[in-house]
Amino acid sequence: MVGDGPRLLSNVIRSQDALHAPYGGVVPELAARAHLQTLVPVIERALEEAGTRWEQIDAVGVTRGPGLIGCLLVGVNLGQAIAWARGLPVIGVSHLAAHVYAALLEDEQLRPPVLGLVVSGGHSDLIRWQANGEIAVIGRTRDDAAGEAFDKGARILGLPFPGGPAIDKLAASGDPKAVAFPRPRAPGLDFSFSGVKTALLYEVRKRKTISEQERADLAASYQEAIVDALLQRVEAAIFPSPSGQFPPPLAGEGRVGAVGSWQTIVIGGGVARNRRLREVAQARLGHLARLIIPAPELCTDNAAMIGVAALIEWDRRGPDPAPFDADPSLGFG
Ligand code: KG4
Ligand code: ZN
Repeated sequence: MVGDGPRLLSNVIRSQDALHAPYGGVVPELAARAHLQTLVPVIERALEEAGTRWEQIDAVGVTRGPGLIGCLLVGVNLGQAIAWARGLPVIGVSHLAAHVYAALLEDEQLRPPVLGLVVSGGHSDLIRWQANGEIAVIGRTRDDAAGEAFDKGARILGLPFPGGPAIDKLAASGDPKAVAFPRPRAPGLDFSFSGVKTALLYEVRKRKTISEQERADLAASYQEAIVDALLQRVEAAIFPSPSGQFPPPLAGEGRVGAVGSWQTIVIGGGVARNRRLREVAQARLGHLARLIIPAPELCTDNAAMIGVAALIEWDRRGPDPAPFDADPSLGFG
């Protein structure tokens, strides 16, 4: 729940990790059913923790997409039902854009232009949040998303679901230089992670047995390759390209980079919880601009960032005429 500012009033997160762990990945039908069972109790707790009564609520924000259709339908229908029952406006938002807007909960004065990296289970997008409020995608993955690369890599290493946190933890006791994994690059500002995933598979296959230290070294080296590839792309967006292959700078304040003018870099999405990414990003980007990586609980999918996105969209375009549909392949807006 968020208030004007935007200010964080409560952020209740009900993880489904334990539910899906026995299957080694998210089972869409189970996910939708769990949403159905948990949404109302989660909303009640969010009200309670915020010390808010229903009469004080001004609007309902809900994720329209992207994501699993079954889960989105549960949310979109419940959001509109609550709004209808209480006579409130409802605003359907993109959960990807919300990963960028989560940074406003760290600094409510934050305004575009902002350069953003959104890294989650389904997306690796480099974006420009422009002064006119629109979000333009300037780089995307050609194959796997960064979170997918973590999750699939973890499976190759025999680690439990969810893979990202498992690699993060194991990598802490490994040597990131033990194995020189390729640093994948796609044309322009795009990403590609399928090559490094295949390289990990070959590294594992060529060993008859793997000691715990070797497994930690592989995890640390694999994580290092992903982190390096992600940050290399952010740097490429910052420094003007000699070949001039990127769009010309936009008018605006702040540092003029290869893809526009901005003063702040935001990194969001579930992968932004990764401790090595947070540490190396600070070292490599911290002196180039103001870097905001929201607190870990504001990086993984959460309702507070959806509330912030709803406030922004409400200001920008007003409430949505209901009924509206979920959109599993929605982009940033
Ligand atoms: O944004 P998010 O919570 O959900 C989606 O929109 O997909 O991101 C989930 C992704 C998963 O792939 C998960 O493995 C990854 O974020 N993740 C991490 C870490 N925590 C979550 N990846 C690397 N290191 C972590 N500590
Ligand atoms: Zn997400």
